[in-house]
Amino acid sequence: MGFDLDVVVVGGCGHVGLPLAMAFADRGLQVAAYDIDPAAVHKVQSGAMPFDEPGAPEMLERVIASSRLVATSDPPIVSRAEHIVVVIGTPVDEHLNPDPQAVPSAVEALAPYLRPGQLLVLRSTVYPGVTALVERRVASLGIELDVSFCPERIAEGKALRELFELPQIVSARNPTAMARARKLFEVLVNETVELLPEEAELAKLFTNAYRYLKFALANQLYMMANDFGLDYERIRQGVIQNYPRAADLPAAGFAAGPCLLKDTMQLAAFNNNNFVLGPAAMMVNEGLPLYMVDRLSRRYDLSTMTIGILGMAFKGDSDDIRSSLAYKLKRILRFKAGGVLCADPYVKVDADLVPEEEVLGHSDLVIIGAPHNRYIQLEIVKPVVDVWGLRRGGVRV
Ligand SMILES: NC(=O)c1ccc[n+]([C@@H]2O[C@H](COP(=O)([O-])OP(=O)(O)OC[C@H]3O[C@@H](n4cnc5c(N)ncnc54)[C@H](O)[C@@H]3O)[C@@H](O)[C@H]2O)c1
Repeated sequence: MGFDLDVVVVGGCGHVGLPLAMAFADRGLQVAAYDIDPAAVHKVQSGAMPFDEPGAPEMLERVIASSRLVATSDPPIVSRAEHIVVVIGTPVDEHLNPDPQAVPSAVEALAPYLRPGQLLVLRSTVYPGVTALVERRVASLGIELDVSFCPERIAEGKALRELFELPQIVSARNPTAMARARKLFEVLVNETVELLPEEAELAKLFTNAYRYLKFALANQLYMMANDFGLDYERIRQGVIQNYPRAADLPAAGFAAGPCLLKDTMQLAAFNNNNFVLGPAAMMVNEGLPLYMVDRLSRRYDLSTMTIGILGMAFKGDSDDIRSSLAYKLKRILRFKAGGVLCADPYVKVDADLVPEEEVLGHSDLVIIGAPHNRYIQLEIVKPVVDVWGLRRGGVRV
């Protein structure tokens, strides 16, 4: 059967595909990152990260220099690897509907390069039933390969730590495929969790919905406290101090990014839209920028003011602006305020951003849009709206 590569990661230059490909390569496997984005492939192959990820530049340099990792847009590379890991994006559409065909279609496009004896690992977050659909499609091709679903659970910004620490959920329908998936992920960690494919699909969606709902609760409690003239973060600190039962009550803040909302919506669709808590959480989380502007407009005549937003990424110390609520805040303010100035030291893909000093110098009021650590100590002489409680400045909205 003879494969000269151990692993090919399909979507291997993306936010989760690339760290995974690098992690396998750094553990000594021979890995290819296959991706349809030629610009990202070119960057990776030249040893440069296409996005920020702590610890990644050094590791990428190492695995490219040793040729343990190669990046390519050439699909025939897929036929050379014993393990094919598919981790392409699985966004919901503009009406928040999941696309259960995204992963099966990507696999079908690779049909000419699938070979008997390969292990196909689905790692994208998928709509429940997608693994079974892929199994059926693969069977109809008449190629004998094993299929498994092993969801990715890392958080961006912690990828290269968590890939070597988090237990890996592995699932497959038959013992051979399960054993092969377990062996592959034991290259990264000792602890694996075995589930049925449908259990694993739901486990991943439950994980993200749980987080999204927790953030919604925190945000609703924030609004409640704020409306009552009290500082949510002060109350939260009081609640969690040496009290393990509430230790995971989150701080308030924009709950956004490419995963949490869309996976909560996938779960809602899966349950025939009978997931009352999911859309309710969306109303709260997506409503937070509207709430902030509404509160501000009761105190200020925004139409005469320039508002600054510091931080446009969807999370702290990240350059990723996908589905960031800081951009929703910007849109609302462009409608209501005299002017809006935005800065983010990490974001490189937005030509509208201005330097931080310009925001600080020319704004009448500053809103923290992303909880970058540098904003904790940053000297800001203008009024600051800090929903995250980052600066412990108390009630300001
Ligand atoms: N971003 C996260 O923190 C995170 C965490 C856990 C799980 N996930 C899940 O992982 C999956 C990927 O997310 P991401 O954030 O890495 O997305 P991404 O957009 O950063 O990466 C996906 C990559 O796949 C490539 N691609 C798309 N279609 C392809 C195809 N047919 N063949 C080859 N390459 C293709 C894209 O060019 C891109 O580089 C999603 O299902 C997501 O829900 C993401």
